[in-house]
Amino acid sequence: MIALRRDGDLAIITLNRPEALNALSFEIIRAIGAAIDEAGGWDIRALIFTGAGEKAFCAGADIKELTGRSLMEERQGAELGQAVFAKLDSFKAPSIAAINGYAFGGGLELAMACTFRVATVRAKMGLPEIKLGLIPGYGGTQRLPRLVGEARAMEMILTGRTVEAEEARAIGLIHRIADGNALAAAQAMAAEFTCYGLPALSFARAAVQRALSTPLQEGLRIEADLSTLAFRTEDATEGLAAFVARRKPQFRDR
Ligand code: CAA
Repeated sequence: MIALRRDGDLAIITLNRPEALNALSFEIIRAIGAAIDEAGGWDIRALIFTGAGEKAFCAGADIKELTGRSLMEERQGAELGQAVFAKLDSFKAPSIAAINGYAFGGGLELAMACTFRVATVRAKMGLPEIKLGLIPGYGGTQRLPRLVGEARAMEMILTGRTVEAEEARAIGLIHRIADGNALAAAQAMAAEFTCYGLPALSFARAAVQRALSTPLQEGLRIEADLSTLAFRTEDATEGLAAFVARRKPQFRDR
């Protein structure tokens, strides 16, 4: 259902249910949570998600599992998806969604929970829950406005329309369009930051993550605190010394 593997500094999670366009059964959502936890114990600096097969990153929640549940089960389902995807907010390393095809509903919500998104030219994305009489339940109503602004998010969620790669990049939903294979593009993007130390990467992420949910004065205080902490790391001592000595720094995540 999913595969977790290690590739140097990277952990790669592949949603592996191509016959159902990698739709997220509850079993797969739990497996994603377990894989994120396992990868967190590895000596890595990035986590990449992608989908098996030619067509889809992930077509969303498994629609066939969504009928006949009690109110409590429906709520628990939303809370499970939200909690598993929220693991990526505090994951020790940045994450990248390599969107290799369709990313709809819960699939786009997983991608939006990642730190970065790269997509193939033929990728199609959207939150089509409204067409099922539903609304996004795995974080979409909260993460999409933070990425593309309230007006665009409202329009995408209320119409359920599909966004193609070029528009997705233009509105800030994805960072890059892959020149070919999405996974290869995600690996190339990861190489741009896996040369840096995890402490600085995580302090920077933590500060930026607070920017939209914190009043400016409080955000600036958080930035000052995290900036001060960064100076106290061995990696900062190494980075500053390497600059002065005109050599490449060797960051050790300390
Ligand atoms: N759940 C379960 N099965 C799914 C699925 C899903 N979300 N999406 C696709 N499949 C299955 C199809 O049933 C089909 O299986 P069978 O061959 O056994 O019938 C197989 O995957 C291939 O799908 P299609 O034949 O439909 O492929 P297509 O290329 O013609 O269309 C698609 C692709 C436009 C993505 C279409 O499959 C589709 O619209 N899927 C549903 C997308 C969607 O509505 N996602 C939101 C789900 S709700 C949600 O995610 C709630 C939330 O916020 C958590």
